[in-house]
Amino acid sequence: MTGKQTILLTGGNGFIGANLARLLMKSQQYRVVNLDALTYAANPLSLADLEGNPDYVFVKGSITDRELVASLFKQYQPMGVLHLAAESHVDRSIVNAEDFLQTNVIGTFTLLEAARVYWNGLNDDAKESFRFLHVSTDEVFGSLGADGYFTEETPYAPNSPYSASKASSDHFVRAFHHTYGLPTVITNCSNNYGPYQFPEKMIPLMILNALSGKQLPVYGDGSNVRDWLYVEDHCKAIRLAFEKGVPGEVYVVGGSNEQKNLDLVNQICAILDEVAPPEEVNQLREQGLKSYKELIRFVTDRPGHDRRYAIDAGKIQRQLGWQAEVRFEAGLRQTIEWYLQNPEWVDQVSGGAYGEWIKKNYAWRAEKESK
Ligand code: NAD
Ligand code: TYD
Repeated sequence: MTGKQTILLTGGNGFIGANLARLLMKSQQYRVVNLDALTYAANPLSLADLEGNPDYVFVKGSITDRELVASLFKQYQPMGVLHLAAESHVDRSIVNAEDFLQTNVIGTFTLLEAARVYWNGLNDDAKESFRFLHVSTDEVFGSLGADGYFTEETPYAPNSPYSASKASSDHFVRAFHHTYGLPTVITNCSNNYGPYQFPEKMIPLMILNALSGKQLPVYGDGSNVRDWLYVEDHCKAIRLAFEKGVPGEVYVVGGSNEQKNLDLVNQICAILDEVAPPEEVNQLREQGLKSYKELIRFVTDRPGHDRRYAIDAGKIQRQLGWQAEVRFEAGLRQTIEWYLQNPEWVDQVSGGAYGEWIKKNYAWRAEKESK
């Protein structure tokens, strides 16, 4: 025990969870107990360097395991919960929604119920300062037309099994506050990008496909719009909402950075053309590629594909002083560099599909350049 306040974090081995765990550990204010089931989307390497740190505890298990979850509250006496564990990919939810129902709905309910029982037993001060922060998505609001923004007042209209499961979990969180007084806060954030993202999501998928000369599959005509936020900026918003957010409140979070999918893929290709030119890379030179853009292919659209997401983050800016800090071009470049510099991490989640290539080609290039 180090005398620091303890947070129960769920999903710490996922993309946002790993970035958030790092942010919290860097602050040296908290002890973090990370409950993660280590599903396909997790990567043990993401937090491997925290092992042995007295302020970090890893527990492998599911948020759907009632006894385990209750025992963690009892053993670690957290001053709050940061709940991120989820099934998170829309395309997977279209193929099989059941895991989404189990983890996102039943799992969130299980966690809420255990938190409620634990919170009821706290003294008045601890009760008052306790927070249950639920990390959710802007996808619960459905799809926007050409104009307008999602705000905290936007009615729910989830369109995919993923967003329906997140919407359901949001409603349970809201109800536990309204009915039992549990001090909950919800954040609904737009699309994140950055290091540690599993390469089934658009940005890392495009980076890694391009680097191994595979096609870049753009759904439909590539004109769907997402509002991209650098993951560290999201993590800072989560921390602020956890520390300063008002119980029962919702904060929407976004980057004010709308990009059409095709424009974004073109930007990724342009940066890659610069940092890993295809004509200098054996496999790609053999394909006769002059630019990664030549790999772009329009493919069948995602069923029910939401047209546009965009966030008006005015409330969290005004009330909690949050502001996105990382400019998109810089964040995208940093992200691409991170994937190029972390082949072992990539191989851990892709069964060796990409990392070998990076090691062979990019490491070789970097060495050549440094001479
Ligand atoms: P992710 O898929 O990268 O990671 C999810 C993590 O949860 C993994 O480590 C996985 O092992 C763990 N997990 C899954 N099921 C579990 C279970 N039953 N018990 C314990 N752990 C389990 O997801 P992410 O992109 O980091 O998203 C984290 C949260 O943020 C999710 O709730 C998601 O809905 C939300 N969110 C994500 C984005 C985004 O752009 N990625 C945007 C807004 C909100
Ligand atoms: P994704 O990263 O899956 O996030 P979400 O569906 O939660 O927004 O996809 C981002 C956008 O990119 C979305 O409009 C779908 C599109 N997309 C493609 O065009 N091709 C792909 O291979 C993927 C994974 C996504």
